[in-house]
Amino acid sequence: MPYFDKDFDKFKGSADYVASSPLKSAVNVSIALGRPLLIRGEPGTGKTMLAHSIAKGLDKKLLIWNIKSTTKAQEGMYVYDTVQRLNDSRFGDKDIADISQYIKLGKLGEAFDSDEQLVLLIDEIDKADLEFPNDLLNELDVMTFYIPETKQTISAKNRPIMIVTSNAEKELPDAFLRRCVFHYIEFPEKEGMEEIVHVHFPDIESKLLKEAMKVFYALRNVDEFRKKPSTSELLDWLQALMIGGIPHDKISQEIPFIGTLLKKEVDHEYFNTAYTGNATGGGGTRNVRWRY
Ligand SMILES: Nc1ncnc2c1ncn2[C@@H]1O[C@H](COP(=O)(O)OP(=O)(O)OP(=O)(O)O)[C@@H](O)[C@H]1O
Ligand SMILES: [Mg+2]
Repeated sequence: MPYFDKDFDKFKGSADYVASSPLKSAVNVSIALGRPLLIRGEPGTGKTMLAHSIAKGLDKKLLIWNIKSTTKAQEGMYVYDTVQRLNDSRFGDKDIADISQYIKLGKLGEAFDSDEQLVLLIDEIDKADLEFPNDLLNELDVMTFYIPETKQTISAKNRPIMIVTSNAEKELPDAFLRRCVFHYIEFPEKEGMEEIVHVHFPDIESKLLKEAMKVFYALRNVDEFRKKPSTSELLDWLQALMIGGIPHDKISQEIPFIGTLLKKEVDHEYFNTAYTGNATGGGGTRNVRWRY
């Protein structure tokens, strides 16, 4: 077995993040192949946190490139600060002939130029236009780019561990996908979710958690909701329940702090009409028609 790498299982997770075995193995394959790991999944399923966990688990520095609708691929490599140079030429006493002082490396440039291997998170790539992933293809492949202004080539001294996240909405170009290892974070089943909750709230009362999980998964089962509550909403809700000192037997009767779970008006309307019994409050019992 000449190709077997005993170091293959590098990423074993970190104490503050629950990673399934398929996810851990996708991370390790991506590291072994030196290819970016494209992570998709519903909002709030831990895509961004994964990069933090990898950096922590492997004890490496994390660089985060947050993508916006206006972000251009070029910015990730470098920017030439011509405005500063112009200002210096007018008002400063600097030697403006040395252009290298006006070249600022972007996140990709920084990651390539670093002496140590870094973790680079390209967060929410789907926010940018379609040109963005297409413009990055060559850099992701060869991990090299050229700065014509200074005639300098920046090559990755150590291929960074690259994590690219995207919400499930938008398709990315095939040419981009070809260069990545892919993993979809499935929404956790109850058991996995309990593990995640315990990472955040180790001392949570078990009855409260049990009741809250029943209600949460019942809400997740309502197909009519436009935006189903996710992991981050569950965590917020649990925190609100604990801060509010809500007893566990009140949770399924009233579903307190519903605004931490449902974020769309239509979902609130649907939720309110799906109540039966004396739903007008005033201390009466509310019977909820959720599929427990
Ligand atoms: N597997 C997990 N282990 C521990 N915490 C988790 C896990 N998954 C989600 N969380 C928690 O849920 C919250 C949301 O996670 P995160 O921000 O990484 O989601 P996301 O997938 O990047 O969401 P978005 O698509 O909206 O950016 C965080 O507080 C995170 O700690
Ligand atoms: Mg995120």
